[in-house]
Amino acid sequence: MKKIIIVLGVSVLNICFANPKYQLGQFLFFDKVLSGNKNISCATCHHPLSGTGDGLALSVGEGGAGLGVTRHLGFGSSRVHGRVPRNAPHIFNLDPKELTTIFHDGRIEVSSKYPSGIYSPAGFDLPEGLDNLVAAQAIFPITSSDEMAGQKNENTIGKYAAEGNLKKLWKEVTNRVVAIDEYVELFKKAYPQIKNKNEINISHIGNAIAKFEEDGFRTLNSAFDQYKKGNKEALNPSEIRGMDIFYGKGKCSSCHSGNLFTDNKFHSIAMAQIGPGKGVGFNKQEDYGRELVTNDIRDRYKFRTLPLRNVAITGPWGHSGAYNTLRGIVEHHLNPKKALFSFDQSQVNLPEDKIFSKKDFTIMNAKGILTLIGRTSEINKIDLLKNEVDDLINFLHALTDRSCLDMRHLVPKRVPSKITINE
Ligand code: HEC
Ligand code: HEC
Repeated sequence: MKKIIIVLGVSVLNICFANPKYQLGQFLFFDKVLSGNKNISCATCHHPLSGTGDGLALSVGEGGAGLGVTRHLGFGSSRVHGRVPRNAPHIFNLDPKELTTIFHDGRIEVSSKYPSGIYSPAGFDLPEGLDNLVAAQAIFPITSSDEMAGQKNENTIGKYAAEGNLKKLWKEVTNRVVAIDEYVELFKKAYPQIKNKNEINISHIGNAIAKFEEDGFRTLNSAFDQYKKGNKEALNPSEIRGMDIFYGKGKCSSCHSGNLFTDNKFHSIAMAQIGPGKGVGFNKQEDYGRELVTNDIRDRYKFRTLPLRNVAITGPWGHSGAYNTLRGIVEHHLNPKKALFSFDQSQVNLPEDKIFSKKDFTIMNAKGILTLIGRTSEINKIDLLKNEVDDLINFLHALTDRSCLDMRHLVPKRVPSKITINE
């Protein structure tokens, strides 16, 4: 009897890990073949071993080299052409049932105005057949010149990216993937309705990547969850006091609400802005955040309420990764305006560069702009004692699911294109 149970247990485990769509998605997530110059994958900026981010304030896109906090801007003519303007957020718990919007400005969101049910930068040209907004998101990093596509004179994908020809770009990426026989077999296993490789399209790619992200990075068993399920020992007294502050006088849960600690909305908390920005405002270096999607000036400097599960291991924090400590970003919330003006630039974790570094703090040194940003803050001042802030931070640590402290099993040993995944 015992034997049967063990055998059953193992086979259930195998079925779970051998889900063909998941396996396909895992390979695609780590495979640089999706990028124009075959030098960067999703995992480069969302690596399981760096909290599903990259540990840097602003990501280093295609042309860079290395992984995690040691990643740098690369060498020679293939070196990166500019800094990526925002921080790579963690991608834990991408649950399409709970999230109605993703990206710092929400440029992908659930919307009944579109036949696909999803608003995205592609508007009505969003391909059919995408499972949800996580799948829709997954087909956009490959369209960005600096992130994955490369420059127009470097490769065909880079050329289509420069022309804004998404249809051709997605077709080109698909062609590249289906030129690899092992992938064709994996697609046929993942989507049994596919009989011929011509039937494979970019939505199959997006859906598989999303399946891997959703299942691989699902981490919902923190001490806080155990406490909620009734294990009153799961949180220590300081964490419980911190929880009371979070849901009480700290008012954190007025924005960080729900199971993932986000209201799926956009707020200004007068966050520091560093780096090249999004091509608007002062010196074309500001990031207007949500306004870039809605064109409504009332949305200026508003950014998406970031979900807080595993937040202790997902630094640096904020849309520009300005804060290099969890304490720093928490204290920012307590008095955003003051924190903005007294921001310590030396903490910012970015690879040095003769040209880029000169512009990293243009906005932070422009007092007039800081005044404008400060005025929009929806938080005025929250009075907490030093030990209360400590409790609050301890509570945030209790949102870490320990399984995400060791995610080596999510890293494949190889990918079908045979391109290295080591850097
Ligand atoms: C060069 C680094 C880089 C690469 C490569 C990259 N990303 Fe990202 N990712 C980012 C940055 C930066 C953002 C935030 C962009 C923004 O909000 O404007 C982001 C945002 C996301 C988000 C939204 C998370 C949220 O909470 O809003 C998801 C999901 C994601 N990326 C998945 C992927 C997938 C899948 C791939 C591969 C197809 C990929 N990324 C490739 C840097 C990268
Ligand atoms: C008015 C809404 C609002 C309130 C209230 C609020 N936050 Fe936030 N929080 C945000 C927004 C918006 C961001 C993202 C800002 C950005 O990216 O620039 C954020 C970001 C964060 C981050 C960084 C997450 C990451 O992954 O980078 C932490 C940590 C955080 N908040 C904790 C708290 C705590 C603790 C409190 C209570 C003291 C709190 N927040 C109250 C809106 C709010």
